[in-house]
Amino acid sequence: MTHEGYDTQILSAQSAMDKAVELIGNGELVVFPTETVYGLGANAFDEEAVKRIFVAKGRPQDNPLIVHIANIAQAEDVAEDIPDAFYALADKFMPGPLTIILKKGKNIPYVVTAGGETVGVRMPDNDIARTLIARSYPLAAPSANRSKHISPTTAQHVYEDLRGRVPLILDGGQCRVGIESTVLDLTSAIPTILRPGAVTAEMLADVLGEVSSCGKVIGVAKAPGMKYTHYAPDAYTVEANSIESAVAEYDRALGEGKRPVLVYRDIYRDVMGDRQLISLGVTAEDFARNIYAALHTAERGYDHIIVERLDGEGLEASVMNRVDKAAGGKRV
Ligand code: TXA
Ligand code: MG
Repeated sequence: MTHEGYDTQILSAQSAMDKAVELIGNGELVVFPTETVYGLGANAFDEEAVKRIFVAKGRPQDNPLIVHIANIAQAEDVAEDIPDAFYALADKFMPGPLTIILKKGKNIPYVVTAGGETVGVRMPDNDIARTLIARSYPLAAPSANRSKHISPTTAQHVYEDLRGRVPLILDGGQCRVGIESTVLDLTSAIPTILRPGAVTAEMLADVLGEVSSCGKVIGVAKAPGMKYTHYAPDAYTVEANSIESAVAEYDRALGEGKRPVLVYRDIYRDVMGDRQLISLGVTAEDFARNIYAALHTAERGYDHIIVERLDGEGLEASVMNRVDKAAGGKRV
């Protein structure tokens, strides 16, 4: 036992699935992998269990949780008045990195929905996650980080952040997508993207006809999570519009006695010379998969983080939504 209560274990799903199922059945928390980021799960029908999530994360009670299901039929256990559009989207994108906001079902306690009448439903594209859910209950789960910290894409990230606060972390390796799911509200007149992700507005519009994509939240935030500062590293972080401005910023910071690092794709290695680099890979998919792990590494070893800016649409725009938050909008 540590001073925070639990002797946190990281175990493989093969060896620990029975234990995970038992913990969930007892109203305890289990961290599980998904294709996006790791989740901190509790039985979505158990109010006391769900309260533990908020305590472990230090999360404000007014930020609702996503309910994870193992198959489409389970949507009816957690939501009601489900529109045809849900099934059309499920056909294409479930399992996958898409959360759909529906009318809340009666069995879901208000602690999950932060008092609201809607619930986010998502089927993760990860066998470990779906096996755990199928053998226990639908799982209410936020990302498995402390509130305001970076979302975890490896079991080790979770351990560093939540050690002592959870009994078990199921290790499923590195998350394939790397940024959180797209959140789509189907309860509004026009389907509305509340959080961009790997399932893009264009992909959703192909199925739905029209989708409203509010990159900026003006006035009241509909996804309460959007109003909190998220994903911010512990070190000064800035975006770079070009490799030239990135290198100039790096050299300036170095001259001031800082420890700068470039968080960039590999393609500019020639220009970077022997400056410190944490590589994001080559493609936009690589960028998404690696960005949180890179920021984790950067905030531990450096104090001036310079991140590449991508200007494209779709996945590139979704990743930039996270980088903008990490940098607090600062650019060079
Ligand atoms: O990829 C993901 O979605 C990961 C994995 C673990 O599934 N989960 C995740 O959960 O990112 P969390 O709690 O960190 O972010 C959920 C977001 C928050 O911005 C929250 O406000 C929004 O979804 N959300 C959840 N339920 C909602 C609801 N009923 N209405 C509006 N927004 C909701
Ligand atoms: Mg989160």
